[in-house]
Amino acid sequence: EHCKGVNGLEKVVLREVRGCSAEIYLYGGQVISWKNEYGEELLFLSSKATFTHPKPIRGGIPICFPQFANHGSLEKHGFARSRVWSIDPDPPPFSANSSSQACVDLILKHSEEEVKIWPHRYEFRLRITLGPGGDLMLTSRIRNTNTDGKSFAFTFAYHTYFAVSDISEVRVEGLETLDYLDNLKDKERFTEQGDAITFESEVDKVYLSTPTKIAILDHERKRTFVLRKDGLPDAVVWNPWDKKAKAMADFGDDEYKHMLCVEAACVEKPIILKPGEEWRGRQEISAVPSSYCSGQ
Ligand code: BG6
Repeated sequence: EHCKGVNGLEKVVLREVRGCSAEIYLYGGQVISWKNEYGEELLFLSSKATFTHPKPIRGGIPICFPQFANHGSLEKHGFARSRVWSIDPDPPPFSANSSSQACVDLILKHSEEEVKIWPHRYEFRLRITLGPGGDLMLTSRIRNTNTDGKSFAFTFAYHTYFAVSDISEVRVEGLETLDYLDNLKDKERFTEQGDAITFESEVDKVYLSTPTKIAILDHERKRTFVLRKDGLPDAVVWNPWDKKAKAMADFGDDEYKHMLCVEAACVEKPIILKPGEEWRGRQEISAVPSSYCSGQ
């Protein structure tokens, strides 16, 4: 279903047989809503989010490309999240058993304006699929289409804003004992100690070479999000907490309590593509009752 959303922006709505749904804006190529079969929203979208170019939409799953955060000289998180994507007229083929899934294929290509700030030509194909159980899969295929023989390097993240009931009751499993870069300490490298990660102040970390499965346990709501990733070695964990929340115009003062960003990413070692080469990176998220995962 292809229709108009906030500010007349074009959006696509995916629906699955049991009633799960996802909404994707062409602005940013951004998922802004993902609901389970009970109609409960699983992603955080700020009540103060703006839907106006060139500001990215605060919430859902912004795409950070070709630069994560300020790891480079481009605008923060790159330009893909504030470009208008198109429906891909020539999507990649499906594997044999996936043709019945709800799915949309988007595409973004370099613009002449953009070439002035990042002198490369590319095709970025993004397939968003809502699986039969309501799982949300994002697959990115990025191809270097430079004709001048030049390679390019990029960093990347699926900047996923999970909706949680109360951040102080949330635990993240799968990142313990790993090395991370702390964005709050000049990207210095540390090693995570001990148990699952919990939250009591601002966090902005890039965990390096993580396992492919990370779990976000929302104790109060008895829900666990499971994030699986492929081609994306790192994982970002971000919560702005109270002070930074107040400083962001498009974020409510208390909203930090109800969100947590956990992002499949490639930050430490940029991906390098020669002309004609293609990279693929995938994130799959599912939401399940906690008892299924942790035996509680
Ligand atoms: C996170 C970064 O992924 O995104 C943070 O690690 C950043 O450093 C945050 O503050 C939000 O960025 P923005 O540009 O959407 O406000």
